[in-house]
Amino acid sequence: MLRNVPIRRKLSIIVMVATCAALLVAALASAAYEIVSYRQSMVRSLSTIALMIGENSSAALTFNDPVSARQTLLSLGSYPHIRGAALYDSYGHVFATYASSARAHPFRPPALQADGYRFIDDRFELFRTMTVAGESAGAVYIESDLAEIYAGLRRFAWIAVLTITLAFGVGYLLSARLQAAVSGQISHLAEVVGIVATKQDYSVRASKGGQDELGRLIDGFNDMLSRIQAQDAELQDARDTLERRVAERTRELQEEALERQQAQSELIRTHEQLMEASRFAGMAEIATNVLHDVGNVLNSVNVSASIVADSVMHGKMDALGRLSTLLEQHRNDFVHYVSQDERGRHLPEYLRTLVETLIQECRSSVAELELLRKNVDHIKDIVVMQQAYARVGGVESSANLNELVEDSLRLNAAALNRRGVEPVRDLAIIGPLTIDKHKVLQVLVNLLRNANAACEESGRAEKRVTVRTRRRAGHVEISVIDNGVGITPENLSRIFQHGFTTRATGHGFGLHGAALAARDLGGSLSAHSDGVGCGATFTLRLPYVPSAARSELRPVG
Ligand SMILES: Nc1ncnc2c1ncn2[C@@H]1O[C@H](COP(=O)(O)OP(=O)(O)OP(=O)(O)O)[C@@H](O)[C@H]1O
Ligand SMILES: [Mg+2]
Repeated sequence: MLRNVPIRRKLSIIVMVATCAALLVAALASAAYEIVSYRQSMVRSLSTIALMIGENSSAALTFNDPVSARQTLLSLGSYPHIRGAALYDSYGHVFATYASSARAHPFRPPALQADGYRFIDDRFELFRTMTVAGESAGAVYIESDLAEIYAGLRRFAWIAVLTITLAFGVGYLLSARLQAAVSGQISHLAEVVGIVATKQDYSVRASKGGQDELGRLIDGFNDMLSRIQAQDAELQDARDTLERRVAERTRELQEEALERQQAQSELIRTHEQLMEASRFAGMAEIATNVLHDVGNVLNSVNVSASIVADSVMHGKMDALGRLSTLLEQHRNDFVHYVSQDERGRHLPEYLRTLVETLIQECRSSVAELELLRKNVDHIKDIVVMQQAYARVGGVESSANLNELVEDSLRLNAAALNRRGVEPVRDLAIIGPLTIDKHKVLQVLVNLLRNANAACEESGRAEKRVTVRTRRRAGHVEISVIDNGVGITPENLSRIFQHGFTTRATGHGFGLHGAALAARDLGGSLSAHSDGVGCGATFTLRLPYVPSAARSELRPVG
């Protein structure tokens, strides 16, 4: 109820309530005492009156003189509160009565009762026995109203009200002066707390009035403020330092971010250069292989040309010349010479053998020339293919995957052959797809070269490289599987890193470039090996985008 009332008012109210309660209790106690003493004095005075009436009436009772007795009773008229009285004879009969003129109802004395008194409702009744010479001569009954008690109580009530009001006023004035000693300091403390709370100013201090509990409370509060102020200063210091450090770190981070951005741009540039380099490297690889292949074919061309030249140089043509000379010599005796001459008789047989030999020689030369033409055509094919790949680099076109595999095998054929590696084809029927042929070929040539090297390194007798193509849901896979040296798990994890190589003549560019090319193609390149000596499998996964114009399906191998 008083929770939100200011402490000054609260203290006043408490003091006043306590004062009033104390006064009220005292007043009630006094009122109770007053009532008791009024009643006792009433009993005393009416008993005396009854005794006096009894003594004055004893003669009248003895001489049976009711008139005289009534006269005696009339003397009660001087007591305004006595409303009625009666005299009883020794037999208990009413002898004489008195009724106050102020009474409202007629007076009817009650039947005689033993000595005593009682308060009933608004009246007081008293019986008193009269004795004459030790014998009961009758009794007196007096009935009085309680107006006297009520008047006394009213007086008392007025005094009490006046006293309480006075005490209230005095109490209020005193409490207003005295409570300032307590509430003043508390209000001051509250004010200081308000300043601290609203302004966050920990430099203010509360001033104390003495060494009582409030004084100690204010000391404690000031002490607490001092500590908070010190901590606040430390905190501010720490915050300043932190802000400085954050600002420094932000600047450093910004610089780092800038450096990183520059490094990233540099990296992108390098990557582009590398891509270009790897593209050229791939082209160079293809060119190297092409030259190798062309060289091989040129060997065969050379052999064929030598055979034809040899056959022309050392064939039976000169025999034909000699025969012509012989026939010229025997122009005039030809018949004689053929029929009679020892040598001439063998001439037809010789001529037949010569013709057969010449036909044979001619056929061999034609066959050799046919081989030569084919070899030249092969060279032309290889060159045209290389030119085609070089031209279409970076451009997507319709391609048959198995044909690409064949081309890559053809480009590596000489190298595989040189190391005694058997190429195996395990090709599925796959429709034409739209792809950058140059990139696919670059990857396949790299994988085949690595497989070839791994087979050679293994030193095993049966060296084999299998190229497998498979059609999967939404993509195609080309796997190059070899039974070469295999790859350790440790090397397997960094095999695609740029510059990683285990070969003395290697650069570590091949797989890195191949993986980048696979990514550019929208696919991926993965490696698998069960360990050293277990061979390796490299799988190029490409998205399967069927060409709009489907060419004829062509299983190869
Ligand atoms: N089929 C394979 N079997 C075993 N190891 C392989 C195979 N393919 C690649 N590796 C390993 O991966 C390494 C990296 O291959 P990558 O083609 O990137 O470079 P390289 O062949 O060493 O050199 P280059 O840059 O000339 O191709 C190789 O040195 C080799 O150790
Ligand atoms: Mg390589």
